[in-house]
Amino acid sequence: MRLSERIRYVGVNDMRTTRFESQWTLPFGVSYNSYLVVDEKVALIDTAAAQYEDEFLTNIKAEIGDRRIDYLVVNHMEPDHSALQAAVRRVYPDCEIVTNAKAATMIEGFNGITEGIKVVKEGESLSLGEVSLRFFMVPMVHWPETMVSWCPEEKTLFSGDAFGAFKAVGNSVTDSYSNTFEEYKDEMTRYYASIVGKYGGPVQTALKKVGGLAIGRLCPTHGPVWENRIADVIALYDRLSRYEASRGVCLAYGSMYGNTEKAALALAEALKARGVECAVHNLTAEDYSFALRDVFKYDTLILGSPTYNNGIFPPVRQLMQGVCDRMVKGRRFMAFGSFTWAAASVKLLNEMASAAGFEILGEGTTFKQGFTPDKFDAEALAALV
Ligand code: FEO
Repeated sequence: MRLSERIRYVGVNDMRTTRFESQWTLPFGVSYNSYLVVDEKVALIDTAAAQYEDEFLTNIKAEIGDRRIDYLVVNHMEPDHSALQAAVRRVYPDCEIVTNAKAATMIEGFNGITEGIKVVKEGESLSLGEVSLRFFMVPMVHWPETMVSWCPEEKTLFSGDAFGAFKAVGNSVTDSYSNTFEEYKDEMTRYYASIVGKYGGPVQTALKKVGGLAIGRLCPTHGPVWENRIADVIALYDRLSRYEASRGVCLAYGSMYGNTEKAALALAEALKARGVECAVHNLTAEDYSFALRDVFKYDTLILGSPTYNNGIFPPVRQLMQGVCDRMVKGRRFMAFGSFTWAAASVKLLNEMASAAGFEILGEGTTFKQGFTPDKFDAEALAALV
């Protein structure tokens, strides 16, 4: 697929994998984007997931026919983009791999390739004829070897996972519809929160590094190619990586027999009655990445958990641990939940939130056994938010 005379899209859509990285659900699929820069020399930028070898190689052939690939540029080594390096080498044995020193060791470790690797350094350029590629290191976005490739003549940035999104791109690879950004915003935020969320600092460093480039086309490894809404995409990543959030509540809960759930729904109603935007997540019914997305979106996190094994109900603990692992900053926090004979979950959640530096709203509310409105004053709790 032509993005321009020189830049071609050769990625694939994956509607079959149910869990990305074997953990994040994919209700709308995902794409593994790969690109060709066709000039006097031909450069392929990243590959795709292992199960798409035939389709990927067919896409390349459809763009360049019998021409050879001179360079395989490796921006990132996670196997959803690197698994087909050996396949590319098999079909194009003379192609030189162009990457940085950290990635070179991973190429050997993952794919056993040690020959024909050209190691580039920060700011180095590679001429393809009329156009060139310049390489910038962006370590820890979200692996240590990550780099981006800039084609100044085409004003195109091949950004790796940065600016990526879940949700397959179908046949319309670019953001050609006026609402493409709005359509992808939630899945871009969920992708960021799940995959990149821990690395806000390195993302900020990377944004500063590419901030001076006059980007006219943004080519990430997942989701649409951005040509029209580049500023919106960069602004979203900037905001997420600074852990900035809008006023509102992510209210997530787990419930074994419905008592903590009744409290959660009563609190959500009370919040909505006060005009507070509130997203409710039942963590036993959905992947916790949706709640994680809304932790990045809203400034207040409220968690409901029954006490289980004298601790936090496991699905709720998983979310809270995920929030702590990602070093989310600047959130307001409240906990509630039921217990049967000894209360522990609220106290433990408050301890985790305190350790994360969150502002604790009240002491939290815990109630014994069955839910009744007199045991759980939802209005009073909503007034604290
Ligand atoms: Fe899409 Fe970090 O690989």
